[in-house]
Amino acid sequence: MHNVLVTGGAGFIGSNFIRYLQTAESDVDIVNLDVLTYAGSLENLKDLPNPDKYKFVQGDIGDDDLVENILREGNIDTIVHFAAETHVDRSILGPAKFVETNVMGTFVLLEAARNYWIDEGGQNISEVRFHHISTDEVFGSLEPDDPPFSEVTPYAPNSPYAASKAASDHLVRSYGHTYGLPFSITNCSNNYGPYQFPEKLIPLMISNALNGIPLPVYGDGKQIRDWLFVEDHCRAIREVINQGESGETYIVGGNTQPTNITIVTTLCEILDECLPNSSFVPHESLIKYVTDRPGHDRRYAMDITKIINDLSWTPKRSLSEGLMKTVEWYLDHQDWVAAIGKQGDYQDWLDKNYEARGETQ
Ligand code: NAD
Ligand code: DAU
Repeated sequence: MHNVLVTGGAGFIGSNFIRYLQTAESDVDIVNLDVLTYAGSLENLKDLPNPDKYKFVQGDIGDDDLVENILREGNIDTIVHFAAETHVDRSILGPAKFVETNVMGTFVLLEAARNYWIDEGGQNISEVRFHHISTDEVFGSLEPDDPPFSEVTPYAPNSPYAASKAASDHLVRSYGHTYGLPFSITNCSNNYGPYQFPEKLIPLMISNALNGIPLPVYGDGKQIRDWLFVEDHCRAIREVINQGESGETYIVGGNTQPTNITIVTTLCEILDECLPNSSFVPHESLIKYVTDRPGHDRRYAMDITKIINDLSWTPKRSLSEGLMKTVEWYLDHQDWVAAIGKQGDYQDWLDKNYEARGETQ
């Protein structure tokens, strides 16, 4: 990794990754290509450790001329591809954008990398890497006794989001197999931590609870997700790029699988502890069970044996520590939440997604 193109670096994980990479590798030059959708913000990239080795380009991964110019001008040897539409609920109400960005956008990036690295010989092919950030959602839903997802689990995506990510994973793999494009893929579970856009479960619950707004739990709240603190994910990505074999995929997860309702009640307990004088204590009284997400996957679980054995990566932050740190971060960054909540169509989105969801219990 010398000259790195990060796509989607103004989003949640991408911005954490840029900050992490600058602390871990002082010699890397980073170009961040991000179109700044509602989910991306330059507020997430203030106070980088090494601003001289960072450049921002506002643009679309689907713009082939722009992407090819960035690769050539920046002598890019490593692409770390985060840019995507990422919210499952939005993919249910408006799937087209997910196909455009996640499938076609990834295709454009792959073509640009193939042209520059392989056809033009712009970099030494043994020293380049296209690293694709993917998700556990491509594997579908587990029954209670099924074994956890591993690198050989067949794909069975259930939402338009998951299907678009699965399609992009297949495209990346095919460019390795057909054209010899050096690639790696990480399929990671639910991330949480600083700078997560407040539409996602954990920041949504924190920010609603702080404002006395109901905490909308979908269905019976007994769906199970694996949760990983975002910095652990960033470390895993770096390990895979630096030490992982080209052509490999790695499952990344936190080895912790609570139900959604456990996550929500834990957040409420943390808030009760941090804000004992709030008029919303006990915050748990704000919980409301609402109409479920259509096609909602019931259970995810991750087998992280391969990344532990091959790369000696393990998650460092426990869920209880991570949740405490996350709540503290949101409490300390309420200006960030207020500013980010005004971006794009966020308020309209909240109305559209939650107004039609009746209370069920
Ligand atoms: P996010 O929604 O917070 O950020 C996405 C970023 O991509 C934003 O900055 C946005 O402006 C940018 N973007 C969107 N379309 C673009 C385009 N056409 N061109 C350039 N930039 C564009 O997403 P996130 O949660 O940080 O997720 C990042 C990646 O990690 C995604 O690929 C997602 O599928 C994957 N992932 C996320 C999680 C999670 O729990 N958040 C877990 C596993 C994998
Ligand atoms: O598993 C990895 C995936 O995690 C990523 O690929 C996605 O980009 C990311 O958004 C996330 O998807 P989820 O659908 O799991 O995340 P979300 O925060 O939307 O929901 C987490 C769980 O909480 C899920 O079971 C739905 C539930 N939920 C969510 C919201 C927003 C609620 O019960 N109420 C809510 O209001």
